[in-house]
Amino acid sequence: SRVEESMNNENIQELLSSLPREKLWDGFCFYLYQGCWVSSAFCHGVIYFQKHFQARDTDIILASIPKSGTTWLKALIFTIVNRSRYALAESPLLTSNPHELVPLLDRDFIKNQSTIDNLSSSRILCTHVPYALLPHSIVTCNSRIVYTCRNPLDQLVSYWHFLLALYPEQTTMKLFPLEKTFEMACQGVQGYGPFWEHVLGYWKANLEQPGKILFLKYEDLKEDVNFQVKRLAEFLGCPFSVDEESRGVIEEISKLCSFDHLKNLEVNKSGKHPVGHANSIYFRKGKKSNNRIVVCCKAAIAEKEAADTSSEKNEYQL
Ligand code: A3P
Repeated sequence: SRVEESMNNENIQELLSSLPREKLWDGFCFYLYQGCWVSSAFCHGVIYFQKHFQARDTDIILASIPKSGTTWLKALIFTIVNRSRYALAESPLLTSNPHELVPLLDRDFIKNQSTIDNLSSSRILCTHVPYALLPHSIVTCNSRIVYTCRNPLDQLVSYWHFLLALYPEQTTMKLFPLEKTFEMACQGVQGYGPFWEHVLGYWKANLEQPGKILFLKYEDLKEDVNFQVKRLAEFLGCPFSVDEESRGVIEEISKLCSFDHLKNLEVNKSGKHPVGHANSIYFRKGKKSNNRIVVCCKAAIAEKEAADTSSEKNEYQL
């Protein structure tokens, strides 16, 4: 009921005020909730989802730390699972952004619980919460989890660009330099960080239950997407038949969901997400860096030092 809801909100408000906090700018901060830095925009949604979501055995849960290939995986999983329902030439992906087709539980469940509860099976749903924060029912039922991660520097740079696209006033006001983002992330402070806790939580769960959790890397998808599409279909219980393979269905799915193809669709060039931002902000460069992580970090530090000595302090980009 309404009363119950507002009481819950008050309780959540009280809980939040007791948590450690890191402010990015006025009106935007991260709270350390159960060991995870959750942005103020998502706290209510995360806590509600954690408390009230009921998973089904048939659910497919895509999990990631933001900017690790979520959009790509949403497109691939949706297409693989629904391939007998929609011909590829009539795929909903041609007219809808992947984020409209696969809800983000952390944000959408609190707003549209009944819609999500009533979706027909198999539901494809997404979350950014670490494994330790997943609702009990996801962990204990037979739902399947697909996890994607990415080189942390590429993820962080992508995240920084994304925040600036979401909050353009911060760019002009220079309140949120990459330098600060980098330093905060090294302390674990970024959306759903610390980074390694996130990755290792799912990695360990994958070692314990390989049939429940598929652990993917953005870089591996970039290396050989067809191989990963095949792996995904097998994991999700809908492997490609010999006939499908010989007709090139795997390659067609990879092409449909490719960065260049999705980025250039009208819906992703000029469409808007129901929440209000432009769909185009999900498609930036779509590249993997060729350097190993340590080389990337050295490059970032060198760049930071160079920028510190220049007058245009906050305008460098990786
Ligand atoms: P960059 O900012 O490095 O370009 P997420 O989907 O988790 O939000 O991650 C976004 C990152 O994935 C962005 O990285 C974006 O460009 C990239 N991306 C989006 N769609 C993609 C696709 N179909 N193939 C490859 N990369 C994609």
